[in-house]
Amino acid sequence: MQDLTLFLAHYKKVLDESLYKEIKKRNIEPKLKESMLYSVQAGGKRIRPMLVFATLQALNKDPMIGLKTATALEMIHTYSLIHDDLPAMDDDDYRRGKKTNHKVFGDATAILAGDALLTLAFSIVAEDENLSFETRIALINQISYSSGAEGMVGGQQADIEAENKQVTLEELSSIHARKTGELLIFAVTSAAKIAEANSEQTKRLRIFAENIGVGFQISDDILDVIGDETKMGKKTGVDVFMNKSTYPGLLTLDGAKRALNEHVSIAKSALSGHDLDDEILLKLADLIALREN
Ligand code: IPE
Ligand code: IPE
Ligand code: MG
Ligand code: MG
Ligand code: MG
Repeated sequence: MQDLTLFLAHYKKVLDESLYKEIKKRNIEPKLKESMLYSVQAGGKRIRPMLVFATLQALNKDPMIGLKTATALEMIHTYSLIHDDLPAMDDDDYRRGKKTNHKVFGDATAILAGDALLTLAFSIVAEDENLSFETRIALINQISYSSGAEGMVGGQQADIEAENKQVTLEELSSIHARKTGELLIFAVTSAAKIAEANSEQTKRLRIFAENIGVGFQISDDILDVIGDETKMGKKTGVDVFMNKSTYPGLLTLDGAKRALNEHVSIAKSALSGHDLDDEILLKLADLIALREN
């Protein structure tokens, strides 16, 4: 299955079903469960799970062996969005084309739904009977790092502290690498771990992921300036309003676009000239450069 549209349509459906089932089958307080399901079912591009599946395919493995990992990762990403939208953080009213979680369920339930999605993610990886105990522990350790204080959460803290002030390009790049890059790195390197990729493959995949990771947040910053709210399902102009540190703010829109293209080009060249079946991964990198939502 090499066609990107078919690949995405197929695996999105598989992933959506898995997210629903993993929450539905558990004994959860009804309002909390409803709030968790609301945000995971609101849609979203599912780019992180798609990277898990595409990397497994690039390594000649059945993408389905990454289903639980991909499900856990999307739960953590969804939790990060619920908390990111809270009044105490970016204070957003729309997400994935719907009212934000706290606007529907209230701040307390939104905080708890985020907490619940985060912690459930660890169980889902721990329960994955397709993988050895050794692999499960390695993945839990890795996802804890990527999503935690040294990864996404740390990046979110740095993002908040960078409001209303001028940061250097190096500092901004480090914020983007952590708040967004680390979860994309997990997507690719978790699949490398599951597939038992060799060290050369893992090294190349990591360079690929680091670059599309930062590139993905640069394009998010660009779309906040020039994107179409209807296509994106969230409000634009938020970064200027909140006085966030962003690539367009620091480098101008053209400079940000150049930085994005550079990252995508480094990512793609990291995969060239070796033994990976990387067609879908390369197309996903292009999609990140050209995306409209
Ligand atoms: C939005 O992520 C927040 C960032 C980390 C840039 P996505 O653009 O992947 O959001 P969804 O999952 O498609 O809604
Ligand atoms: C979010 O960055 C990064 C996360 C870890 C959630 P943004 O704050 O720019 O994401 P959006 O624009 O609200 O989706
Ligand atoms: Mg934010
Ligand atoms: Mg935000
Ligand atoms: Mg943004």
